Amino acid sequence: MTSERDAHALATTDFDLDLSEDQLRTRRNVKWSQYPADVLPAFVAEMDFAVAPPIQAALERVLRQQDYGYPKRDTERPEYTISESFAARMQRLYGWTIAAEEVQPLADLVQAKFAAITAFSDPGDGVIVQVPAYSPFFDAVETPGRVLKAMRMVDDGTGYVPDLDALRRLAPEASILTICNPHNPTGRAFTKDELLAMAQVAIEHDLVIVSDEIHSDLTYEPFKHIPIASLSPEIAARTVTINSPTKSFNIPGLRAAVMHFGTMALKERFFARVPRKLLGQVGVFGIEAANAAWREGTPWLLAVKAALADRRARVVAALAGEPGLKLYAPEATYMAWLDCSGLRLNVPAQQFFVEEAKVGFSGGSAFDPDAGSTFVRVNFATSAEILDRILDRTLTATRKLTTAGHES
Ligand SMILES: Cc1ncc(COP(=O)(O)O)c(C=O)c1O
Repeated sequence: MTSERDAHALATTDFDLDLSEDQLRTRRNVKWSQYPADVLPAFVAEMDFAVAPPIQAALERVLRQQDYGYPKRDTERPEYTISESFAARMQRLYGWTIAAEEVQPLADLVQAKFAAITAFSDPGDGVIVQVPAYSPFFDAVETPGRVLKAMRMVDDGTGYVPDLDALRRLAPEASILTICNPHNPTGRAFTKDELLAMAQVAIEHDLVIVSDEIHSDLTYEPFKHIPIASLSPEIAARTVTINSPTKSFNIPGLRAAVMHFGTMALKERFFARVPRKLLGQVGVFGIEAANAAWREGTPWLLAVKAALADRRARVVAALAGEPGLKLYAPEATYMAWLDCSGLRLNVPAQQFFVEEAKVGFSGGSAFDPDAGSTFVRVNFATSAEILDRILDRTLTATRKLTTAGHES
């Protein structure tokens, strides 16, 4: 039998992941079209890697056969195959036993977040969000008239940690605790103790937990992902876990995601409030891609994780000790949350890097409207060659400032 280490070694040599800048610029995606051609993009959460061969093969079969009718797979409802793939994968990866019936496929995760918040709270209720946050989370609370309660991720000098005192303070005013694990944008993979502490508050105050685990595959050794609902049946009974193959397999345009309800009672409570037909159905390409990813995608994923570990090391080596910048190595995700407050810029950091470095990072204000303008989120999921150019440009721009500062 091949050990995980052997599989890893095989995987890293078996895939040609890198795409050239020319190839990338011919794509019609957000990442490579938002900025003018002299800017290197490092913002939206997409990777610049060739897709997993089993996904490509599954999509090509649909194209070849023009198989665009109402789908039917095996003898089951077609979307249900995604539920089964997800349940089998959770068992395999985390020893977490769930029933496929508890899983609801839908088109995208942000929709899942909106739907869960709408179902498990009423207008005027508080919804706790870890801030900084992936920006659609703010909309998911505010658009349906719920009240945002910010639990900050605090820099404790070793990394960003959830402010549990704030959580305890906010919990009596809330009906939902949302978490993002691993956390975008700080890259934290929460420990068992952190998750248990957050879950304990949810239990004490009868909060529903909505846990976005879309980045769960992308952890770095020695960090591990722990699905919060896997920690105990009592936690599962109040938890909706949302996940998707689209982030780790880099297929966000194909639209496929799942919501897992920790009990059938929780699922029924959800559907008592949200009409089934308001959840977008997964299309044929999404079904094929999700199943190929979750059933056959592991060798490719291991290769991507090895590439990302290399890119993460480059980012840390280049930026971590640099005057004016502060960075903790992410434990998961292909993002680095870069604190540029030491540069004392008089424009938002994102604007500075676009103008002075010709690099397009995500602006921190999108994740933290109050305190994020001095931060950028660096997406390092690209070839070593492109990443090195991004890092060179970044350092050239910051050193102009820090050197000028020293001289004056
Ligand atoms: C934490 C998190 N949730 C959800 C999404 C997007 O999910 P979807 O495209 O399925 O709406 C992202 C994309 O970056 C994300 O980082």
